[in-house]
This record gives sequence, C-alpha cells and structure tokens, in this order.
Amino acid sequence: MRPDAGTPMIELDNVSKSFGDAVAVDGISLNVPAGSLCVLVGTSGCGKSTTLRMINRLIEHTGGEIRIDGHQIRRFNEVTLRRRIGYAIQNTGLFPHWTVARNIGVVPRLLKWDKARTRERVESLMALLGLDVEAFAGKYPHQLSGGQAQRVGVARALAADPDILLMDEPFGALDPITRSSLQAELLRIQSRIRKTIVFVTHDMDEALRLADQIVVMQAGRIIQQGTPSEILAHPSDDFVETLVGGRDRGLKRASLTPVGEMMESLPDDGRVPAVHVLQTDSMRLAVSLMLWHGVSQLAVVDDTGETVGMLPLRRLVDDFGE
Ligand SMILES: Nc1ncnc2c1ncn2[C@@H]1O[C@H](COP(=O)(O)OP(=O)(O)OP(=O)(O)O)[C@@H](O)[C@H]1O
Ligand SMILES: [Mg+2]
Repeated sequence: MRPDAGTPMIELDNVSKSFGDAVAVDGISLNVPAGSLCVLVGTSGCGKSTTLRMINRLIEHTGGEIRIDGHQIRRFNEVTLRRRIGYAIQNTGLFPHWTVARNIGVVPRLLKWDKARTRERVESLMALLGLDVEAFAGKYPHQLSGGQAQRVGVARALAADPDILLMDEPFGALDPITRSSLQAELLRIQSRIRKTIVFVTHDMDEALRLADQIVVMQAGRIIQQGTPSEILAHPSDDFVETLVGGRDRGLKRASLTPVGEMMESLPDDGRVPAVHVLQTDSMRLAVSLMLWHGVSQLAVVDDTGETVGMLPLRRLVDDFGE
C-alpha cells in the first residue's frame, strides 16, 4: 500500500558521497513527501546527478542515511528497487537494437511478468504518453525524433508502476517548444498518477514550472529549499537570486500566479472589458494581453466562456510586488 500524501516517501539524512578524496555530495538532508514533485537545481557539477543516483543505488552513499517509505535503502534488494523506482535520463538510454515496445517492457520482463500483462502495460503507457501504438511499437530508437524518444524513456521508467520516478535532465536535449509540451505532459500525467518524483535540471524556468518543492544545490550542499514562490520571493543569497532570474523575477513570478487569484468582481454598472483572459491563465499572459491590446483591464472568463470577474492593471502593482 502507498503511504498517504504528505508522509515522506524519500528521506535523505545528512547524506554524503566522496569519490576518493573528492566530496561530490556533502551532508544533505531532504524529505520528499509521497506524491510530490521535487526538483534539484544548480550549476554543473554541484552534485545533482550523484544525489539522484544514490536514491536508486546506482551510486552507494558514503555517509548518512537514505530511507524510502521509512526503510533504509541498503535493505532493499535490486529487484525491489527496480520495481519501486523508475529512472529516466537525458538522451533516454534506450537500447538501440530493441523496438519501442521491447524497450518499454524491459523492467516488466526482468520482473517476469507474463507476455500478455507486459504487452497490455506497454500499450497503456504508450497511450498515456501520447504514442500511437500502431505507429510506434515496432519502431527502433533511431527512427524516433528526440521528443518521441524522450516519451519512450518516460514510459519505460513508469513500466513497473513504480512509486518513485527519478528523472535526470530528461528534457535537456530538446528544443524549447517540444520541451515545454513535454513539461505540460508530465504535469498532466502527474495529476493523474501522483508518483513521488525527483527531477534534476539546471533550468530554473523548468524547475519553477514543475516543482512542488525546489532544492537549490551548490558545491555538494543544499543552499535553499522551498516552494517555487518562496524561492522567487525570498532567494537566500545572490547566487539563488541570479538563478531565479535577477531583475526578471517579477515576470517569472507572474507566470506562476493564475489570474483567478488576482481578479476582482465585475463593476456594478455591469460593463465587461472587451479583451478577455482565462482565470486559469497566468498573470504573465494577462500582462502580455494588456500590452498587446493597449488596454488597462481585462475580462476574466472561466473555461465555459462565462465572465467571472475582471482584472485591472492596478492589481499588478497593488498586491503583487514584494
Ligand atoms: N564516478 C565519479 N568519479 C569521480 N568523481 C565523480 C564521479 N561522478 C561524479 N563525480 C564528481 O562529482 C561532482 C558532482 O557530479 P554530478 O554528476 O553529481 O554533478 P551534476 O550536478 O549532475 O552536474 P551536471 O549538471 O553537469 O550534470 C563533480 O565534481 C563530478 O566531477
Ligand atoms: Mg548531472
């Protein structure tokens, strides 16, 4: 049975990793609640991948304790870890001589699922990731675009229905549009399947968009952790402030705030502004619409198109800034 949302699924307690004399990870402590998405960010070489790989024991930690679902990971055997933890990496690591279907089914086969169950699982995952079974099941990795291959990589990581998904810069090699659409897919999938995800990136925009919790690392240590809006509002030092965009922070914050949170009720005279925005759209989009149309207020509509409020330009400066 899975623990309830909110209880820690992954716990790192003063965890370190040395390679010889070099300390790659230096006493980090971290809790990842079940069903949440934690993003590790930081510049190259700060220890993100090492941290991730210690969680599935591709790398053994040299100090501290790592627990999954309350149990020390040293107690888990390899088969249990494979079943409980999916792993997706940049450039996918797909086996080049295997078809898409065979690649996705690799862990179920290792776990000795029967053929029918494996096939059913592979097909349902392909559907979940938006890969047409007819068109793609028999293709080989070199016949896929980068984005398609990345979807296969994520499907493969989910194959044995793991509780935990570790993702190491899974969208790092993609163009911005494909990357953005895979980020949206990941959020959509996550809202349905609620895995505990640890996601590594050095792209702060990706972190801000995906994370429930952001962990900022520098030189093997955690220098700040918090929700995206906490990190944006109160970066702990100049380094974090630079990471979150420095003077561009206002717009980044606006992109995290839905219009619905800032809107006001319609005026008594019932006059509705001509240009509208969805209440689920971001404040960043609202600003863009105001600039584009040269208006100082927008009508706010719900997804049925009904007007539910209005957004005056003034709202941007009244309560929004720090
Ligand atoms: N197998 C290894 N042997 C020796 N040193 C290693 C090994 N793996 C990683 N390191 C070192 O540990 C440090 C952290 O590496 P890690 O791969 O975790 O960084 P990262 O944050 O993932 O960086 P990037 O963003 O470039 O992927 C680096 O200094 C790296 O050189
Ligand atoms: Mg790395």
